[in-house]
Amino acid sequence: MDEIARSVNLLYERYPYPYLPIRTERDLASKLHANIMAKILATAGLETGSLSGKAVLDAGCGTGEKAAYFSYHGAHVTGVDLCKASLQRARELAGKFNLQVEFHHCDIAEFRTKKRFDHVFCLGALHHTEKPYNNFLAVADLCKPGGTVTVGLYNSYGRLLHRATRMWIGLRAGKDIEARMAYVERAIYGRKLRSVHEAAYVADKYVNPYESYHTVGEVLGWFEQNGISFIGAHPHVEKGGLAAIFTQMKWMIRGSGFFVISGRKN
Ligand SMILES: C[S@@+](CC[C@H](N)C(=O)[O-])C[C@H]1O[C@@H](n2cnc3c(N)ncnc32)[C@H](O)[C@@H]1O
Repeated sequence: MDEIARSVNLLYERYPYPYLPIRTERDLASKLHANIMAKILATAGLETGSLSGKAVLDAGCGTGEKAAYFSYHGAHVTGVDLCKASLQRARELAGKFNLQVEFHHCDIAEFRTKKRFDHVFCLGALHHTEKPYNNFLAVADLCKPGGTVTVGLYNSYGRLLHRATRMWIGLRAGKDIEARMAYVERAIYGRKLRSVHEAAYVADKYVNPYESYHTVGEVLGWFEQNGISFIGAHPHVEKGGLAAIFTQMKWMIRGSGFFVISGRKN
């Protein structure tokens, strides 16, 4: 584990993410995150009905909420994450709904398997690694020809204002995780955080020790260099060129800091 992975891991061991209050089958399948899951799937031209029987990799699966969602819809899911606390919750969640998900405690960079996947998802993890492109290559390599690769990343434009906030938090509260949490609670929320869910959200958004930022054009370059054709993105963006830059500038104004983008492996 490199230094960045170690520091990022410290945060997620303390605040596993995400932490939605998924108590019932309805929470998992149609209530709490179904809307965003449909949007993520749509970027790859998929819907829940397309998942049945498909081999799915969720790299950097965190607490396995998305892995459980894919599995609930009939996919054979493998989840990989570096965080033991997140994986424990992931296993509990899968167990609760009788879902057979294979979880591995492993760095994305070191995950090896002979399996190849129909759909590879890596959402919100690459930008917390020292070498996002190398790790993208590692996960894209596990996708079958004709399969889809979906990544979710912080956007260089959309996250610009937020970067300033993060810098400010660093200046006022330093590097210590709990000092930063306490500062955000006091200075941004002005009240006690109300739930584990909210604390996980705050930790991930404001307290993460390391994140990198990426443009649509950059990821399209990753796709092109590796024989992957663009399918779609959320929020919607045109494929490259000036139009994509204008769209990302709008993301900057709206503060849409995270984008999901999918391609098909040739
Ligand atoms: C923001 S969470 C995203 C969780 C999940 N993908 C989701 O979208 O709900 C980022 C996750 O990436 C994991 N992660 C970060 N670096 C990693 C690495 N090098 N190898 C494996 N997992 C990693 C963290 O442990 C954390 O669980």
